[in-house]
Amino acid sequence: MSGALSPSDKAKFAAARRAVDFVDNGMQVGLGTGSTAAWMVRCLGERVREEGLKIKGVPTSTRTADLAREVGIELITLDQARRLDLTIDGADEFDAEFNLIKGGGGALLQEKIVATASDQMIVITDPSKEVAKLGAFPLPVEVIPFGWQTTMALIEEALEGQDVLGRDVTLRMDGDTPFVTDEGNRILDLHLKSIANPRKLAMMLNQIAGVVENGLFIDICDIVLIGNVEGEVEIRDMGAGTTETDVVDFAVNENIFADL
Ligand code: 5RP
Repeated sequence: MSGALSPSDKAKFAAARRAVDFVDNGMQVGLGTGSTAAWMVRCLGERVREEGLKIKGVPTSTRTADLAREVGIELITLDQARRLDLTIDGADEFDAEFNLIKGGGGALLQEKIVATASDQMIVITDPSKEVAKLGAFPLPVEVIPFGWQTTMALIEEALEGQDVLGRDVTLRMDGDTPFVTDEGNRILDLHLKSIANPRKLAMMLNQIAGVVENGLFIDICDIVLIGNVEGEVEIRDMGAGTTETDVVDFAVNENIFADL
């Protein structure tokens, strides 16, 4: 059945499957959002059902909450958990310092709150997300609906002083209407092409009135797992300074693909 998956899904699945090995009994785990994180939630659900793994999950979106319930993961709120042992999430881009762009799925606010409340953040990805410099992927910025056009103008003005290659800003749409986040906010996508100083840009954006949060995750991610179509997973650990490679056997995970 795994043969029916696209190469990109195989790579995402491999990273997700290996990532859930980091989860131990009793842990409180942040559950990311997106197609890669969805694989991780399915794999975690399988461990819960088949091994009796006891964990509590904190979802980062209503989509993830729905899927987690469906696969049998017990959920709690972040306020109930307070601190998490681990968060596993996808990313839109990552660089050599494990700085990330996130928010392609529009869940960056809860994702950042949950990740920063965690002792460890693991990013799961396919090889296409690795970049020398962040910024080819449009940077999502969550803004409140009130006066969003004024906020957008302030962002455009502030970008003049930033070392970026593009400065177009667009309102994210969902068909004919603006995309609305789980918190009822809007997303502005910043088409910057290349970001010379992500840390400076992140700080600048969060100082603008109307900006709730930006999709730059700086000094948050600890480990990156990069899966590929063959089932190999490169495990890069920033703290330990190590890179290892492991292999996920698609054949022994056939049951995960059964519902597809
Ligand atoms: C959602 C995110 C996702 O993690 C990011 O967009 C990657 O998604 P995918 O795994 O589908 O490529 O930040 O807000």
